[in-house]
Amino acid sequence: MSLPPTILGIETSCDETGVGIVRGSELLADALASSVDEHARFGGVVPEVASRAHLEAMVPTVHRALSDAGLTLADIDAIAVTAGPGLAGALLVGVAAAKAYALSLGKPLYGVNHLSAHVAVDRLVHGDLPQPCVALLVSGGHSSLLLVPDVTGPVESLGATVDDAAGEAFDKVARVLGLPFPGGPYIDRAATEGDAAAIDFPRGLVRDSPYSFTFSGLKTAVARWVEAKERAGESVPVNDVAASFQEAVADVLTARAVAACNEHGVDTLVIGGGVAANSRLRLLAEERCDAKGITLRMPPPKLCTDNGAMVAALGVLLVERGLEPSPLDIAADSSMALA
Ligand code: KG4
Ligand code: ZN
Repeated sequence: MSLPPTILGIETSCDETGVGIVRGSELLADALASSVDEHARFGGVVPEVASRAHLEAMVPTVHRALSDAGLTLADIDAIAVTAGPGLAGALLVGVAAAKAYALSLGKPLYGVNHLSAHVAVDRLVHGDLPQPCVALLVSGGHSSLLLVPDVTGPVESLGATVDDAAGEAFDKVARVLGLPFPGGPYIDRAATEGDAAAIDFPRGLVRDSPYSFTFSGLKTAVARWVEAKERAGESVPVNDVAASFQEAVADVLTARAVAACNEHGVDTLVIGGGVAANSRLRLLAEERCDAKGITLRMPPPKLCTDNGAMVAALGVLLVERGLEPSPLDIAADSSMALA
């Protein structure tokens, strides 16, 4: 019997250089190099710094993935790469590398959508994805609610953030509270010591768009609340602010995701992206899905953040379905649409 396809997946859409190798539904390697520390002093990802770091990390990360998997390039059946959306210069490094590997090895190239890959990665942990499913993707770069009839095909956007991404809101609020970058994990930690009901922060609604998100009003409300305390010469209860802010974000994200499942008659919700590591989001999602009979699928945090395995996991499906590879002149598309 022939082996299932072995795919090397390359991800460089933001600040993580990820190279994953997947054979069928088995994760063989998930090598990662991150430039996050280089961005810390700027309080956010600097595109040029990220691109340069990808250039330096690309080939060593491919070698590390191959060595972790105990394979050589000759064992790879196809190359998959994030073609968009993401930072233009960062994407370009991964796409150029993927083309070079595909061309030199004489293997097919598959350019994939980053958001679809975030959804597809769950198959490595929980098996084949049911069709359809709803996906909530929340990270530093995106906050999207998607209807996914089939992860290898067009995906429908039900809603997205109209301003800040959820992770961006965590990072900015962390900054207001004097916590390090990236702020999500620090807010999560501070919140465990705080009272989530201490402050009633706003749950932003987007007019005529029940599944969209807005976080800029919430971010401003937190900043105003903290400023008012400081002006009054009072100490800021960092843990309570963190817990109350986190509650507002987790509440809005899970309420809209569950409502989307109900309205579309979908019984599976997949949550991915860096913010999916948030402990309150995970707990509230579980409670609300349980209450509505929705199956919740959340990959472990390492597979929720940007990585190469998710690209390879989607690549395997494209190869198995016999879909047409991408042309070798495929472009990196920073604003790639879903369908
Ligand atoms: O998916 P990711 O690694 O990269 C992209 O932005 O694409 O997500 C990073 C984001 C950051 O904004 C970070 O603060 C947030 O995910 N994050 C968290 C947690 N861990 C990471 N946000 C809330 N709670 C967490 N535990
Ligand atoms: Zn992402």
